[in-house]
Amino acid sequence: MDTAHPMLSGFGNEFASEAVPGALPQGRNSPQRPALGLYAEQFSATPFTVPRRDSRRTWMYRLRPSANHPPYRKLSGIQPLAGANPNRLRWNPMALPDAPTDFAAGLVTMAANATGATAEGVSIHLYAANRSMERIFWNADGEMLIVPQQGRLRLATELGVLDVAPGAIAVIPRGLRFRVELRDKTAGGYVCENHGGVFRLPDLGPIGANGLANPRDFLSPVAWFEERDDPTEVVQKFCGELWGTTLDHSPLDVVAWHGNCAPYTYDLDRFNTIGSISFDHPDPSIFTVLTAPTDTPGRANCDFVIFPPRWMVAEETFRPPWFHRNIMNECMGLIRGVYDGKADGFLPGGLSLHGLMSAHGPDLATTERAMAANLAPHKIDGTLAFMFETSQVLLPSRFAMEGGLLQTGYDAVWSGLGKKFTR
Ligand SMILES: [Fe+2]
Repeated sequence: MDTAHPMLSGFGNEFASEAVPGALPQGRNSPQRPALGLYAEQFSATPFTVPRRDSRRTWMYRLRPSANHPPYRKLSGIQPLAGANPNRLRWNPMALPDAPTDFAAGLVTMAANATGATAEGVSIHLYAANRSMERIFWNADGEMLIVPQQGRLRLATELGVLDVAPGAIAVIPRGLRFRVELRDKTAGGYVCENHGGVFRLPDLGPIGANGLANPRDFLSPVAWFEERDDPTEVVQKFCGELWGTTLDHSPLDVVAWHGNCAPYTYDLDRFNTIGSISFDHPDPSIFTVLTAPTDTPGRANCDFVIFPPRWMVAEETFRPPWFHRNIMNECMGLIRGVYDGKADGFLPGGLSLHGLMSAHGPDLATTERAMAANLAPHKIDGTLAFMFETSQVLLPSRFAMEGGLLQTGYDAVWSGLGKKFTR
């Protein structure tokens, strides 16, 4: 984590913050004349009438209301998807761009099961950039879970400034205006665009009141604004297409805010990793950092799951991820190191997709090593893999299938797993 600004801690808390003393009204959300000549504006990422524990809304007190903008013009069309594909797929990392490319221009769709118009599903993107944004971006299609793999980012948002580095994540609510600035020469990583219900912390059940990701380790920004009366390009993503307009001012002009719909960061090193201390290992749901539910309990629109450094101590147990087939669709990335389920070929910055009911698991080398191992306590270290797991089939993009990153022969990593049966 690389936080240079004061932060508010807690997940989904009702925060209140003002960059100028006296800017935040007391007792009323929308007074007849807000203090300091500001405008009041409500920002809602959930419907007004959802159960209170699910509600996410924030009141902003700003220099100008967001409604004051010219029409948007279409800038680019949707990034097309290829057809459904039942094969196990794996991709090499995307190269950094040569031409000047900011975060918004460097977003490349790899797989999706929705566009944002239906309030369900996810889109999974890679990003690669070599310059800071000067324009402002916002996403009508969903909240954005940003997983940096290389290069530190500064996210200047309507509600304040967040710093995020590889090993941490940031979540930007649907519709929030923001600008991505590079704090190193280049940046690259992953984005899960969640078109469904907002990410939240998973329930803990028998684990109890503590564990996994703890609420206080999530950080949101304090109020910050820029009073900049210069032409500012604003780009929105709407139903998969990019639309742009130009304001005569920066829309990052919120002087004070209160509410519980705010961007946040989380340092994945803070995750309290739980596993077996007897035999077998639990399902990977034990590694869930955030979950975006559907209306069916336990059937996630998206789970964000990590595979961090951890001790392996289970006795008489096949310790890598077991062979499996399941109803969910698993898209994995690697931030650093080597994932314990694959000996090679799954690279930092790369991506894999194991879809609905596809058979997968450790590769041949990992399997043979695990079966032959002398099972002493062992620490998996220096690695950080993650998974976006979604309940709807992900279609790879046309770029994913034809853009040169797709590995050929991925199936061969399992092809040597021959019969060992003896009577
Ligand atoms: Fe899997």
